[in-house]
Amino acid sequence: MYNLIDGKKVSEHVREEIKEQVTELLKNGKETGLAVIIVGNDPASRVYVNNKKKGCEQVGIKSYEYALPEETTTEQLLSLIETLNSDSKVDGILCQLPLPSHIDENTAINAISPDKDVDAFHPINTGHIMIGDHSFLPCTPAGIMEMLKYYDISADGKECVVIGRSNIVGKPMAMLLLGANGTVTVCHSRTKNLSEVTRRADILVSAVGRANFVTADMVKDGAVVIDVGMNRNGSGKLCGDVDFENVKEKCSYITPVPGGVGPMTITMLLKNTLTASKNHLN
Ligand code: GUN
Repeated sequence: MYNLIDGKKVSEHVREEIKEQVTELLKNGKETGLAVIIVGNDPASRVYVNNKKKGCEQVGIKSYEYALPEETTTEQLLSLIETLNSDSKVDGILCQLPLPSHIDENTAINAISPDKDVDAFHPINTGHIMIGDHSFLPCTPAGIMEMLKYYDISADGKECVVIGRSNIVGKPMAMLLLGANGTVTVCHSRTKNLSEVTRRADILVSAVGRANFVTADMVKDGAVVIDVGMNRNGSGKLCGDVDFENVKEKCSYITPVPGGVGPMTITMLLKNTLTASKNHLN
């Protein structure tokens, strides 16, 4: 019998705490602000940005949207980021990825002041994550750790396997599980005998981006399975990386898609923005 990890429920719980603290700051005269930059017309990015703005509204964070046209140059984007870096109303700056191909993403990320980098993508912040003395944690892995904590699932001494090695999810996820005393293996497209490795996992995190990639034969009995995937199946339905119907019966805990990791990602962005605001107060 498996337990469903309800990302919406955990998210609501954490957002209540954030709202209380944002309100408290406001009582002390400190408004909390997030600048959201979107370049071009990517429909998925538009949905994500709208959800981030809604999240801000829900907890009392003021959001400032900068929607720039597709043909924006790197220089124009850097100039906006520079302005926002020195704007005291703005505690956090989020530049929605992907950027149009003529803009170098690393150049944009590196231009954001590390104390306003609420995505935790800047090399200074990724370095802090590696050492374990971070201010900001990358939103998706942090959301997963928060869900594990809520359900009292400890990584201490456990075999943790992460599939995917992206800078946004796979690599920082491995660092956070390691920080929680897990024994961590990171798998990727060149990993040999993948299912042999994944079958060792007490906690299995999949961040691949392919529907039905994780099948029942890859999962150990009683495993905790966390699905970061956001894919469309053949009939256009939103689904994760995990073959949920067949995998769930083997799990002690599993996240659904939608309603698992997704809601937590935005919640952690709000939490990072709150942290930035508190830091700017001092
Ligand atoms: N695009 C996909 N995920 C993210 C994210 O977490 N942050 C930003 N800025 N862009 C993204």
